[in-house]
Formats: sequence, structure tokens, C-alpha cells
Amino acid sequence: MAPHKVSIIGSGNWGSAIAKIVGHNARQHSDMFEEEVRMWVFEEQVDGKNLTDIINEKHENVKYLPGTQLPDNVVAIPDLTKACEGADLLIFVLPHQVSVLSGLSLSHNGPIADPIQTQFVGKVCGDLKGKIGANARAISLIKGLAFHDNNISLFTDEIEHSLGIPTAALSGANIADEVAQEKFCETTIGSKTIEEDGDIWFKVSLFNAPYFRVNVIADSVGVQICGALKNVIAVGAGFCDGLQYGNNTKAAVIRRGLLEMRKFGKAFFEGGVRTETFFGNDRGHDIDIYFASNSLLASLESCGVADLITTCLGGRNRKVSEKFVTAGKSIEELEEQMLNGQKLQGTTTAKEVYDFLSVRGKTEDFPLMTCVYRIIYCGDSPEMIAKDE
Ligand code: NAD
Ligand code: 13P
Repeated sequence: MAPHKVSIIGSGNWGSAIAKIVGHNARQHSDMFEEEVRMWVFEEQVDGKNLTDIINEKHENVKYLPGTQLPDNVVAIPDLTKACEGADLLIFVLPHQVSVLSGLSLSHNGPIADPIQTQFVGKVCGDLKGKIGANARAISLIKGLAFHDNNISLFTDEIEHSLGIPTAALSGANIADEVAQEKFCETTIGSKTIEEDGDIWFKVSLFNAPYFRVNVIADSVGVQICGALKNVIAVGAGFCDGLQYGNNTKAAVIRRGLLEMRKFGKAFFEGGVRTETFFGNDRGHDIDIYFASNSLLASLESCGVADLITTCLGGRNRKVSEKFVTAGKSIEELEEQMLNGQKLQGTTTAKEVYDFLSVRGKTEDFPLMTCVYRIIYCGDSPEMIAKDE
């Protein structure tokens, strides 16, 4: 079999951290992969120079992952089509949606600035349509859900339908800066076809590293629901921190959030999600787990409670939401001031989920996620996060 040609679509904080692992593995396993790994970079100027040129000269993404050396076989390319030409393994790692400032909207202290939402996975897939080989496969590292006309879908399905290639999902307790520093963590790959995806994404070790341990499970839906909705709960956890409510309150938000995440998956996705994906189980090596780095640990999925905890403790959604409470500025302003171009996913997901629930008359069934939405977008008091009415 010819070596796989890998392209990474995205080059933000997580995109760059995963490029370090993938670049290293591609070089290590030259029988399996072409050495060069191309990374599509949304071009921008940094100190008067193209970010792609800086990455290719310094082997560092100075804007989105400063201080981490990327392997020099990772090549930054500003043209999406060129970056993906001839690739048979595509790694999608883009923000699911971004929200930027324009006119007027709310902080909890009153009107501030009106955000415009842009979703660019659809645009990327549109640009790649017809240009990707039939035997290619993709994996989505995106933590978010796709909403169109108040209907919901998974990004794996969006990519599959648009490009006609099978698509798995990877999600876990993976704060990018910590992964880049090679601090031990785990992750979960969710797949509808675990035999094939297991062979491609796990057995050939594109992602596995001593500090990045991968499991492959059959619940692709659950993996993606966890990745998207834990961001909304982390916004709630950030409100708790801004209010200095302490650990017990945050633990209550995490517990309630986890239940709502699972309930959402079971309610709105045909075939549902597996409880084990969210909470783990005590059956040891589950029949639906095809590959696991360590079979004794295989029954607890990183994408579930573990990712929820790490995001509620150390993620960007938590950090910016804490400041939202103390600074009296809008989320978009704080995102701009605090994240240097990195993007929040939890606040936009809170709005998307609320709109989706609202047209179905189901907001009361998801009180925590509804509360997060109301605090950000309707001016409700942040104290509402810990009040049972
Ligand atoms: P990021 O938050 O650093 O986002 C910035 C990226 O968006 C940059 O690469 C920027 O060039 C790009 N961008 C901005 N405008 C764009 C446009 N119009 N079109 C295309 N790209 C544009 O990105 P990230 O951290 O790599 O996150 C990507 C996905 O990975 C998200 O779904 C996120 O939830 C998920 N994730 C992030 C982390 C983390 O710790 N950062 C960990 C796990 C998963
Ligand atoms: P934040 O986007 O809140 O930083 O979360 C990162 C993440 O997904 C950790 O697994």
C-alpha cells in the first residue's frame, strides 16, 4: 500500500498542537505516511509578515501556539486546495463557528455590541468539493454541532455528505497548550465503522504518542455531542468562578451539565448515544471499543466526563466567562481582548442550542444550558447559574 498523504485543515491552537503529533508520527512511520504533512493556514499578517512564512521559517505558530516547536516536515500552505491536493487522510480542526463584533448587543451590565456569526466548515467543504479522491478518509477534531434552519447535524455527517468520504471524530480532555507541552492525556475516536477507522486512525499510529493515548469506540454521535456541549457547561462553570462560588457549586454545574449533555444526545439523535461514552462503565473492555491504549482503562472515555472537567477547570470558555461576570463587557469584546485570535465555541453553541430547543418548546427540559444562554444573550443575572427556581 502506498504511504498515506496527510493534510491538516486548520492551524489554530489545537490545530497546531495536533500538527506536532501528526508531523512527528508521519516522520517516524515512513512506511505508512508520506513525510510531508501539509497544514492549511487561514492566512493573516503577524508583525507585517505572512503567518505561513513565519511557520515555515521558524517551525512555530507564533500566533496560535507560541513556544512550541513544530516538526519541520509540517508545511504551512495558505491555499486550501493546494494544501489538500492528493491527500488521502484529511484532519479537520477548525472552530465550528466564530462570532465577531459589529453593532449592539448585551452584557449582563447592559447593551454593548452586536455579534455576527460565521460558520466556515461549510465553506471549506464547498471549496474542496470534487477535489478529494474517492478513497480518502477524514477525521473531525471540531468541537461543535452544525445547525441549519434550526435543524441539527454532526460535522462528520456534513463532511461525509459534502465530500463523499467516511469521516470519524476525535475528542477528549485535550487542552491544546498542555498537549503541546507533552503532558499526559487521553482522547477518544468515535467511528461508525470502527474496524476501518481503527485500522487507519489508530493502528497506524497517526495520533498516538506516549503522552497522547487514543481509544476508538463505536459511538461517533456521543463523542461529538460531548465535545460540543461541554463547552456550554464550561461557560456556566466560568460564571461560578466569576462569582467566587467555590468548588461545590462548580461541581453541581458539572454534574447537572453532564446529565443535560446526555439527555440532549438521547433526545435529538436517531439511534441515540451511549451512556458509557459520557460516564464510563464498569464492564472492562467494552465490545464496542475496538482499540484501546490500555484495555484496563478503556471503559472510561476521555471525551465524556474527563473533557467536561478539564474544560470547566482550565479551558478558554471558562476563562472568558469568568471575566464576563467581573468585567461587565460582552463575550465578543473579551474574546478579542483575551484570546489573541483564538475562538470561543461554548457561547455560540449555547445560542445555537437555545434556538434549536426554543422552536421545539424544549428549553425547560434543559435548564442549565438555557440559563447559560439567557445570561449571555438576554442580560439575566449570572447568579441565576446557581438558583433553582
Ligand atoms: P482557535 O480557537 O485557535 O481558532 C483560531 C483559528 O481560526 C485560527 O487558525 C484562525 O486562522 C482560524 N480562522 C479565523 N477566521 C477564519 C476563517 N474565516 N476561516 C477559516 N479559519 C479561520 O482554533 P483551535 O483551538 O485549533 O480550535 C479548532 C477546534 O478544535 C475547535 O472546534 C475547538 O473547540 C477544538 N479544540 C480546541 C482545543 C484547544 O485547547 N484549543 C482542544 C480540543 C479541541
Ligand atoms: P476550551 O475551548 O474551553 O479551551 O476547551 C478546550 C478543550 O476542548 C479541552 O479539551
